[in-house]
Amino acid sequence: SQNIYILGIESSCDDTAAAVLHNGKILSNIVATQEVHQQYGGVVPELASRAHQQNIVPVIHQAIARANIDKKDVSAIAFTRGPGLMGSLLVGTSFAKSLSLGLGIPLIEVNHMQAHILAHFIEEENFKKPSFPFLALTISGGHTQIVKVSNYFDMEVIGETTDDAVGEAFDKSAKIIGLPYPGGPLIDKYAKEGNPKAFPFPNPKVSGLNFSFSGFKTSVLYFVQKQTKENPDFIAENLKDICASIQFSIVRILMDKLKKAVKQTGINQIAIAGGVSANSGIRNALIDAEKRYGWNCFIPKFEYTTDNAAMIAIAGHYKYLEEDFSDYSITAQARYKF
Ligand code: KG4
Ligand code: ZN
Repeated sequence: SQNIYILGIESSCDDTAAAVLHNGKILSNIVATQEVHQQYGGVVPELASRAHQQNIVPVIHQAIARANIDKKDVSAIAFTRGPGLMGSLLVGTSFAKSLSLGLGIPLIEVNHMQAHILAHFIEEENFKKPSFPFLALTISGGHTQIVKVSNYFDMEVIGETTDDAVGEAFDKSAKIIGLPYPGGPLIDKYAKEGNPKAFPFPNPKVSGLNFSFSGFKTSVLYFVQKQTKENPDFIAENLKDICASIQFSIVRILMDKLKKAVKQTGINQIAIAGGVSANSGIRNALIDAEKRYGWNCFIPKFEYTTDNAAMIAIAGHYKYLEEDFSDYSITAQARYKF
């Protein structure tokens, strides 16, 4: 049988990552997270590009060393073409092209959002893969989409945010209550011990399967301002309940649209992907939906939720099987629709 070794390279935002897959199974999966952005409360594009430039060679070296292969064994290089920050994408794109040229092996461009979804196809023991067609809820710091997935690269966005991404709703709400960036995981942590019904936040009215989160953070801001005026210690005294209420409201928004999408498409196989799919609230809501509505839900392992290169490599693997290679004229694309 064939031995396919794919080196995946991811540099779309603030994580420099490389991974090696052998026939779809992970041999190594390295992520260098950039700490430099924390002090600014968000990703600074210029600093991200510079850090990628510093990290990319050591990260790829490490991925190949951990995989315990020779770089001559690599079958193809898969890289993130977009969407993402242009400066960040340029580092990975240029490096991937050069390495492919140097090693004389095919180059494969990958759409980052498709890769988040395809992470479900990484070969794992005791892990069920979705079958086609299924719906994917891709939720991250940059995106919020409901995607109808008919095949590996036959995907259609049937709903998306009209303003902020759901990760931003978490991070901006967290900032309002004084939590450091990125606040999503902290809201999740405190929410576990709070009362989700303590403070009701409104469910924005948006047509069809689309989302809106900019009004949500504003309602959190007004609520907190009003309460702290009456009691300056309001946040400290109610942190867990505030976090639980924010999380409950965001999860309800996501689940309402998913229910609508299931009704509209007749597809009740649901996969979640992206950084926010690490959230315990959405995970529990899906487990609950299996029992309550008979859905078949696919929840990724934590290491495949946030940005990583294993997902880029698995997308590359399936393109390799179809000999869907890129030529050297390919350019990075900050807004890359599929
Ligand atoms: O996919 P990702 O790593 O990067 C982007 O492509 O955006 O997603 C990062 C986002 C951040 O907004 C972060 O706060 C959020 O995912 N996030 C979470 C959790 N873990 C990560 N949000 C809520 N609960 C979590 N447990
Ligand atoms: Zn991502």
